Amino acid sequence: PEAPLHASKLTLIKSLTESVELTSIPFHYTFSTNPIEPASSDPEDSIPVIDFSLLTSGDPDQRSKFIQDLSKACEDWGGFMLINHGVPESLMKAMVEASKEFFNLTEEEKREFEGKLLLDPIKCGTSLHGRVDEVLFWRDFLKVIVHPDFHFPYKPTGFSELASEFCKRIRKLVRELLKATSENLGLENCYIEKTMDLDSGFQLFAANLYPPCPQPEHAIGIPPHSDHGLLTFLAQNEIGGLQVQHNGKWVNVYIPPNSFFVNIADQLEILSNGKYKSLVHRAVVNNKATRISLAIANGPSLDTIVSPAIELVNSESHSVVYIPMKFKKYLELQQNHKLGQKALLDCTKVQTV
Ligand code: SIN
Ligand code: FE2
Repeated sequence: PEAPLHASKLTLIKSLTESVELTSIPFHYTFSTNPIEPASSDPEDSIPVIDFSLLTSGDPDQRSKFIQDLSKACEDWGGFMLINHGVPESLMKAMVEASKEFFNLTEEEKREFEGKLLLDPIKCGTSLHGRVDEVLFWRDFLKVIVHPDFHFPYKPTGFSELASEFCKRIRKLVRELLKATSENLGLENCYIEKTMDLDSGFQLFAANLYPPCPQPEHAIGIPPHSDHGLLTFLAQNEIGGLQVQHNGKWVNVYIPPNSFFVNIADQLEILSNGKYKSLVHRAVVNNKATRISLAIANGPSLDTIVSPAIELVNSESHSVVYIPMKFKKYLELQQNHKLGQKALLDCTKVQTV
C-alpha cells in the first residue's frame, strides 16, 4: 500500500517500516531513480587516524607528531578518526544503547519531544527539513541543544545524565583539537577558543536511526551536506553507512568501535579563510540492519560573528573569501536551504569578478 507522506503529523520511518511489510520504498522516499553509485572501500582511500594520546603524553616529539598528523588530515581530508581520546568505551556504548531505547519509545511518547522551531531545544522527527526538501530521508532523529544550556528528554531513565557527561567530554576534546588547529593555522593557541566564544559554544547532540530499507540504493539516510559548526564528532553502533567526498569520489568510512569520526564544518572553513574545507558527507542505508549514529556538532556561540582570521588574510595572495556572518544567522539560513553539498557556504563567499 502507498504509505502516507505526512499522515496527520509526521510518521516516523521506524514506525512505517515496522507497521507494514515493505518490499519497495514509498514514492516520497525515492531519492534517486538510478541506483546511488557505490563508494570506494579501497585501502588507499582510508581516513587518517589521529592518536589523541600523543598530545597528552607529555613527550614533545609525540606532541609535534600529533600536531603534524592533525594538520595533514585537516588539509588533505577535512576529517579523521580520533582514537585513544579518553572517553570511556562503556560511556560510548551506553549512549548508543540509550539512544536506541529512546527510539523504542512509542510514537506518542516521542511526539512529546517533537519541537517545531529551529532553536527549540529538543526536536524529534524524521526527514531533515521537510519544508524545503521534496524527498523524505530514511532516518528518524532526536536533536537536542546541550550547550551553553543543557536540555534533554527525561526518558528513558538515565539518558540525560549519560548525555551530559558524554557531551562535556566531547567539548573538552574539541577545545584541545581547536588549540592544536589554531597552532597549525599559525594563530595564537587560544585564538579559536576566544574568538569563537567557546565558553558559550553552541553544541547540538543528534541521535539518528536508519531502519533497514527494502531498496537501499534508491533511498538516502542523509543527502550530501557539510555541517554548520566548527567540528562534528560522530560515533555509531556496529553498522556502517557514512560516506565522505574525497578528491571527487565517495569513500566509505569505517568507524572502529571506541573511535570518533571527526570532521571539519563550515565555520572552521570560514575562519581559516578556506585553508581547511568542511567535509561533504552523506549517510546511505542498507537492507539488513538498523544503524544508529550519534553526531555531536560543536560550534561557536550563537552571537559570534564568524569571519576569516585577520592574520590569514593580510597578504595580497590571501584576500578575504567569506563574508562575516553571525552564527545564529547562518543556522537560520541553513534551515531554508535545500540540503545539497555546500550550497549555503558558497552563498557566503565574497563575489569576485
Ligand atoms: C550526519 O551527517 O549528521 C550524520 C551522518 C551519519 O549518520 O553517519
Ligand atoms: Fe552531517
